[in-house]
Amino acid sequence: MKENRIHNFNAGPAALPLAVLEEIQASFLNFQGCGMSITEISHRSKWFDDVINDTVERVKRLLGIGDGHKVLFLQGGASMQFPLIPMNFLGEGKSADYINTGTWSTKAIKEMEIQKKSCKVVASSEDRNFAYIPKDIQFNADAVYAHITSNNTIKGTQWNEFPETGGVPLVADMSSDIMCRPLPMDKFGMIYAGAQKNLGPSGVCLVVVTDEMLSLIPEDLPSMFKYTTYASKNSMYNTPPCFSIYTMQLVLKWIEESFGDLAKMEAYNIEKAGKLYGAMDRTGFYKPTADKDSRSLMNVTFRLADETLEAKFIAEAAENGLGGLKGHRSVGGCRASIYNATPMASMDALVSFMEEFEKKNG
Ligand SMILES: Cc1ncc(COP(=O)(O)O)c(C=O)c1O
Repeated sequence: MKENRIHNFNAGPAALPLAVLEEIQASFLNFQGCGMSITEISHRSKWFDDVINDTVERVKRLLGIGDGHKVLFLQGGASMQFPLIPMNFLGEGKSADYINTGTWSTKAIKEMEIQKKSCKVVASSEDRNFAYIPKDIQFNADAVYAHITSNNTIKGTQWNEFPETGGVPLVADMSSDIMCRPLPMDKFGMIYAGAQKNLGPSGVCLVVVTDEMLSLIPEDLPSMFKYTTYASKNSMYNTPPCFSIYTMQLVLKWIEESFGDLAKMEAYNIEKAGKLYGAMDRTGFYKPTADKDSRSLMNVTFRLADETLEAKFIAEAAENGLGGLKGHRSVGGCRASIYNATPMASMDALVSFMEEFEKKNG
């Protein structure tokens, strides 16, 4: 079974560490000797309590945060946070800054517009098809928060340095790069991430939010729409996505046990991405689509100089056990998603296939 697994470059849901899958498999029928599966036990049980508390502790340890932050688990994905963020943080007459770096930022902005909230788009890279991360941005001092997408899954760009906001807290959609590197958490009022790229399976969205941001939330929102509800009930106001949280716990354990901390995780990711960009930069056969200073460590988007070869490239890669290399349906081209769990062996296999393909078709 293990031998039949492919090199998985899917954008999300995406590859999970093999060790995590094996641990799930080994404990699936009888979790911690309780005689039941993790999918069969009560979320109010001691067993699940230990899972969720340990997951919270691991998130805090890896991000280097303490009691001033709350770690929450929500359903509805990252997309659910797009409307919840303004609902929670933008009271009457308040406004927020947004930076538009692609599809996901655009969707977040749209949810502001639907609610008729005051949204100031202070920078955008739309003029060049979102191929870069904007620089020298002027933030509004009265903004309650400034929203960014830290990694643009579709366009293959990433904030390599976070912007200076003059004290306005950043709120960041980190769905496709959470835990790929250390974060300056003092800059962020809230970060959030759908789990299905770097944290586990779909079904849970991780939210890390400061007490200061939580204090802005009005009482008169429906319970399930308020971050304070999740914060006051350890994310168990209602039944949480137990299996997804459990898998996240194992993924975080895998990071801590295999790498130690996020600086080491980042070093590994830099080495992996470096191999791929390096191979592409050597000749003009493959063309990364993002500007060099905005390239993502997680989603490497590229075209073939001869675009008519792309379908052949993707098909032959699949025949060679390299899956998920098709670009997002909205942009075409190719994309290798190389999240934390993508092993170096997959990078080597991809690079050598690309070199071979170039030799035959260049
Ligand atoms: C950066 C980013 N934000 C948001 C989303 C949407 O996430 P979800 O499907 O969890 O709502 C995605 C999904 O690919 C994403 O890459």
